[in-house]
Amino acid sequence: MPSFAPEEFCLPPVRLESLGGLLFVNLDADAPPIQTLAPGFEEDLQSLIPHFDALMPMDTFAFDSPDSANWSANWKVVVDNYVECYHCHQAHPALADLMEMTSYEHEVQEHWARQVSRSTRTDNKAYPFNASDDVQIAAYWYLWPTTSIWLVPGDANLFVLSMMPNGHERTAFSGHRYGLTESVDAERSEYLNAILGPEDQSLCESVQQGLKSYSYNQGRFMVDAAKSGVAEHGVHQFHRLVMDALQV
Ligand SMILES: [Fe+2]
Repeated sequence: MPSFAPEEFCLPPVRLESLGGLLFVNLDADAPPIQTLAPGFEEDLQSLIPHFDALMPMDTFAFDSPDSANWSANWKVVVDNYVECYHCHQAHPALADLMEMTSYEHEVQEHWARQVSRSTRTDNKAYPFNASDDVQIAAYWYLWPTTSIWLVPGDANLFVLSMMPNGHERTAFSGHRYGLTESVDAERSEYLNAILGPEDQSLCESVQQGLKSYSYNQGRFMVDAAKSGVAEHGVHQFHRLVMDALQV
C-alpha cells in the first residue's frame, strides 16, 4: 500500500519518569507527572535517608520461599496493613521493641505518606545494631498506589518494594535492597525475612479470610489527632485514594 506510513503504527510509547533516582513506568500517557502527584516526596526521602544519593541496588529482595513472596490477600489489604502501625504492638512485638513507639509519627501528603520512629533501641528483641551506625531511625514511605520504601536501623540501607496485585486474592512483592556495600547484616535480614514478613503475611491472609465473613460490615478508623503510633491517617488516605480512582 503506497499510503502506508510505518511511523503511524509504532508500538505505543511508555512514560518513564525519575523520582529520587527511582524509575517509574506509567502506561497512561495522559497522567500528570509523578512530581506533580507527589509534591515533597523526594525531598522527604532526601531529608531522612542517610547517604540517599550514594545508595546502590545490592540484590533483589527475596522472601524465604515463593509462598512468602506471594501472599493470599488482596493488594488493598496489604497496603492497609503497611500504612499503619496500630497493629505493631500486637503483631510485631520485636519491632515494637526496636522502635521507640512514643517517637512515632505519621505524615500524610498528597498521594504519599510516611511513618517514622525517630528514636530506636540498639538493644532490642528484633536484631542488634550499634549506636554509631548510619541509620538510627525506622521509616516507612508509601507512594500511591503500590510502592513501599523503607529504612531500618543499622548500616546504610533502603528497601524499595512493590506490592503488586497478582489476582483478586494474591499480592506479589518485588524490589531491591539498597546499600553502600555488598555486605549483608545477616541478623537484620533474618529478622525481616523470617519474622517480620511472615507476621504480616499471616495477618493479611487472616484479614482476607475475615472479609468473607457474612457478619463483616465495616471497621472504623483509629483517630488520633497527635498522629502518633496508633493513628490510622494513612489508612484513611489510602481508602480515599482508592475511592477517587474508582470514582465512587
Ligand atoms: Fe505489619
